[in-house]
Amino acid sequence: MSMAVRSGRLICGSRGALLLFLLILVGTLVILHRVVQSPLFNQYEILQDHLERQENPKSLVTRTILLWTDFFGDPRWKLSWDTLGPQELRDELRCPVYQCEISNQHEFLPAVELYDAIVFHAAEMFSLLRPVPLQRSPHQAYVFAVMEPPGETKHRLDDEFGFYNLTMTYRLDSDVVWPYGQLIDTETGAVVAPSVSPPWRKRPVAFNDSVIWNLWSGKSKMAAWFVSHCETLSKREILANRLQEIFDVDIYGKCGTLRCARGDPHCDEMLDTDYLFYLAFENSLCDDYVTEKLFDALHRNIIPVVFGGADYSRILPTHSYIDANRFETVEDLAQHLSFVGGDPDEYVSYFWWRSYYRLVSTSPFCDLCALLHVPGFSHKTQFYGDIQSWWFNSCRLESQIRW
Ligand SMILES: *[C@@H]1O[C@H](CO)[C@@H](O)[C@H](O)[C@H]1NC(C)=O
Ligand SMILES: *[C@@H]1O[C@H](CO)[C@@H](O)[C@H](O)[C@H]1NC(C)=O
Repeated sequence: MSMAVRSGRLICGSRGALLLFLLILVGTLVILHRVVQSPLFNQYEILQDHLERQENPKSLVTRTILLWTDFFGDPRWKLSWDTLGPQELRDELRCPVYQCEISNQHEFLPAVELYDAIVFHAAEMFSLLRPVPLQRSPHQAYVFAVMEPPGETKHRLDDEFGFYNLTMTYRLDSDVVWPYGQLIDTETGAVVAPSVSPPWRKRPVAFNDSVIWNLWSGKSKMAAWFVSHCETLSKREILANRLQEIFDVDIYGKCGTLRCARGDPHCDEMLDTDYLFYLAFENSLCDDYVTEKLFDALHRNIIPVVFGGADYSRILPTHSYIDANRFETVEDLAQHLSFVGGDPDEYVSYFWWRSYYRLVSTSPFCDLCALLHVPGFSHKTQFYGDIQSWWFNSCRLESQIRW
């Protein structure tokens, strides 16, 4: 009897040991598996597995963009249709990445949270009838789009903390840069500016251009200024008045005595034939902020005199403009203008860049479409917390030049 009990215990005991052994075995195997599968030994295979599981990244999915608001009364934001598909993006806008649909039709997709991006124009108030989307998906990007300087913002940005995921403005640190004009290197075809540090070509030592030389001899007036906002944050009106005390500045538009209708070809021609300088003074002193006036002037045979908050070397090649903020006083600026305007060789030398660069304007929607396709963009969450500070802190009230 006692023998039987003992052998029974023995069996129990050996079963327990077996179980324990199996447990240890399984545990060891699991640990071994983890170690073998760890990046320590297996880094390439892990990546390979992951990439094989991914769908082919080359086949681009179409992204959809909804224009939620108008752009200054234009529901099409200057595009040619209410809805543009990949074909229009490729053939009309000439977008390198064109797999997008852009629409202002709110019912283009069955639900508002299906759009990949929704664009809001911040220089206009939200419409009372259609404030903000009621549903929002965490995968969507809300885009803060504006071409005007911060002083023209018509949104209460302190109410929009964390609302926007992307910015689309003229500022070079925006997610999508939306400039008034761009310069292309004629030889390479590459867009070189605006950019943080454009690879400018060296200005040739000698440059001559008989067209400008001949125009120069007929230019009898110093400077023209076209202006419709008379009192500005930049105080450009004071700079212009002080210049006017030194030489004639012809002021066209609401703030002056002269008139020339917008779009009248004679107005543009007289910049070629009559005037030496074109005042491209901005209404605000903000980083990277220059307007179409500057680019319009560059199309004519006239030297722009710029005044603004931008670092103009990010926008234009050296010696193609005269920056008022590079001078300490208005007298210094005026003296330099008299020198350049009085010497035809010097005057003509400001047009050297035309042999190397061409002005173009491209659509920011190409870049927005491309951004929505950047691998990794859909895997990352980003938003602007204090959008008001991001936007407003780029402006100043004080300029360099003294008057
Ligand atoms: C530039 O060209 C003009 C007109 O063709 C000519 O009169 C002038 O002498 C030239 N200037 C120089 C420095 O070659
Ligand atoms: C956009 O921002 C919101 C926060 O307001 C966030 O919940 C969402 O995930 C962000 N989307 C993307 C695509 O980054």
